[in-house]
Amino acid sequence: MIKTRITEMLGIDYPIIAGGMYLLSTAELAAAVSEAGGLGIIASTNFTTAAALREEIRRARGMTRKPLGVNINLFLREAAPWPNDEFIDVILEEGVEAVETSGVRTPEEYLPKLKEGNVKVIHKVTSVKHALSAQRIGVDAVGVVGVENGGAVGMDNVTTMVLVPAVVDALNIPVLAGGGLADARGFLAALALGAEGVIVGTRFMATRECPAHQSFKDWMVRARETDTVLVERSIRTTHRCLRNEMSGKILEMEARGASLEELLPYIGGETKKQLFLGGDLDGGVALCGQSVGLVHDIPSVKELMDNMVAGAIDSQKRLAAMGLG
Ligand SMILES: Cc1cc2nc3c(=O)[nH]c(=O)nc-3n(C[C@H](O)[C@H](O)[C@H](O)COP(=O)(O)O)c2cc1C
Repeated sequence: MIKTRITEMLGIDYPIIAGGMYLLSTAELAAAVSEAGGLGIIASTNFTTAAALREEIRRARGMTRKPLGVNINLFLREAAPWPNDEFIDVILEEGVEAVETSGVRTPEEYLPKLKEGNVKVIHKVTSVKHALSAQRIGVDAVGVVGVENGGAVGMDNVTTMVLVPAVVDALNIPVLAGGGLADARGFLAALALGAEGVIVGTRFMATRECPAHQSFKDWMVRARETDTVLVERSIRTTHRCLRNEMSGKILEMEARGASLEELLPYIGGETKKQLFLGGDLDGGVALCGQSVGLVHDIPSVKELMDNMVAGAIDSQKRLAAMGLG
């Protein structure tokens, strides 16, 4: 067991959280992460009804008795296809232990209910400014992800190495670090930067329990750290993804000033489904972080997490032998 304010708050053995991933953070992946001692998260955006989310939470509960989380996407209300208010009620009724929120709004409106239900709230941000607002409104912990991150990276291009200590210095509440962390060395480094836990996404895509198509996982094993690009910057929703035909097309459209409406058919959920679940590797935006360059195999979640923890202890011994510890 590793002891930090995060492990104590969430009642988990290892401060490793599998960040919510649209389409991929299913009951199977979430339960495997929780069962291995971390916190698994179910992506609520995989569902359009509260009943379907409830069913997924119950499926996960059937696979583990350990704490679980649900990711809630705080998109602009006008563009909301997801019933977040109802999702929050389901989370409370099902006794889910934690919520990971992210997006363009803070979770302020849900905090009183969640606090009353003793659900811990981790709000994920990409800047010191947003980390401070999250602390101000009273979240339990902040997750901060650098520009290496798979998925949304914000607008500032600050690396995990700089952003994490900057946020740790600015806050009193516990900080989880994410973006580019994929193995024991990244895990230990994040703790050394002052984080009390890590949020990992990309690395969990290449595990046996992740529902991504086998061709996608094999592509990850072949890909290098130089194979990702940033799309959607022109519409201020920058996302990191693997370079493919679709990212090339989107970048070309952005360079000639395409509007959100023009881009939507290419960046939407349907194309991502074709890619991640259907295995059409050029058919959508392949959200993925730079740590894909550190992915060389497709282990089980338990093997991956055991290696992260055991390897961190080994790395710590190496540092001690250098006189550090
Ligand atoms: C395929 C994919 C989908 C993601 N979907 C979401 C999402 O729906 N909501 C969210 O908050 N974060 C999402 N993320 C971000 C992850 O939760 C996590 O913060 C990130 O992957 C951590 O950085 P890393 O990829 O460098 O490990 C996604 C990431 C990936 C790779």
